Amino acid sequence: MAESRFTLDDRLPAGYFTDSLHADVRAGLAERPRTLPPKWFYDKRGSDLFEEITRLPEYYPTRAEQEILVRRAPEIAALTRAATLVELGSGSSRKTRLLLDALTAGGTLRRYAPLDVSGAALAEAGEAICRDYPGLEVTATVADFEAGLPLSDEPGPRLLAFLGSTIGNFDPAQRQAFYRMLALSLTSDDVLLLGADLVKDPRVLVRAYDDEQGVTAEFDKNVLHVLNRELGADFDVDAFDHVAVWNAEQERIEMRLRSRAAQTVKIPELDLSLSLDAGEEVRTELSCKFRRESLTAELHAGGFTVRQWWTDPEERFALLMAVPN
Ligand code: SAH
Ligand code: AVI
Repeated sequence: MAESRFTLDDRLPAGYFTDSLHADVRAGLAERPRTLPPKWFYDKRGSDLFEEITRLPEYYPTRAEQEILVRRAPEIAALTRAATLVELGSGSSRKTRLLLDALTAGGTLRRYAPLDVSGAALAEAGEAICRDYPGLEVTATVADFEAGLPLSDEPGPRLLAFLGSTIGNFDPAQRQAFYRMLALSLTSDDVLLLGADLVKDPRVLVRAYDDEQGVTAEFDKNVLHVLNRELGADFDVDAFDHVAVWNAEQERIEMRLRSRAAQTVKIPELDLSLSLDAGEEVRTELSCKFRRESLTAELHAGGFTVRQWWTDPEERFALLMAVPN
């Protein structure tokens, strides 16, 4: 039976959704500029909205990465001969199927181990993959990948995939800490497969994060719905505008929620009253864009040597393979 090959293990610490959310919101809203970490976008609705974003005409990263995977998955399977595919921030695992197909055809794959903070996304994707890949063991883990990797007895070699340029949602210091943690978790047989969105025309970038249909705006504002539900806050979601700005100096898109008017928001669970001026912004996400040389250098500093670098024909997106130094 498919279900017996599928496990869903919740490794979030007790009180995660209260303790971490409380700490993040308290710290982020006290900062200038005010910030909220992007991981809180991804309740069920946020995960669904992200999936909708990946299908928007303006949001090229998913299609560009998919193009690379279509071409390179057989090579990745041959180079790694992975027995386990671990995937961080796996979401719907849609593109991952290209890797699963190639590794299955190569005859090496035994286990798929997706990890995500969204249990709903994992349950849906994991069960479907289990159905579609007979003989594959699917061990899904609900966890926060910033808190360390709960790797254990996976058959090796392991291919650790971190797709979609989710790495770009970290700032440089967070990325360094993350690479170091990954390098310590992997052995010399394991390989990192990293998707990274590349620097390009800012007009293309801004459109990708401020689409015509307003789906990205809904996704951005979803974090306020999460705070209203989880913290009893009274954010009037319609009193904010979604803004996507290209920060040319730091080469990143910044998503922000801009208060339309002066307002006071109550967050009872934190015993907090938040006064926002008209036009004041809360930064909700960084989406850093990369260049080959600097990304290779920062990975090296974090404990990885880049072995392969592939892009789509238009050079919008890169997929790289790296091994621990
Ligand atoms: N890899 C997929 C999904 C990217 S969306 C793709 O390329 O399309 C980012 C995913 O990372 C979401 O599923 C979200 O729930 C997950 N995520 C974000 N922050 C996380 C964290 N700190 N720990 C674990 N998962 C996280
Ligand atoms: C998940 N992450 C890589 C997406 C990105 O492009 O930064 C999240 C996203 N934000 C707005 N649109 C998509």
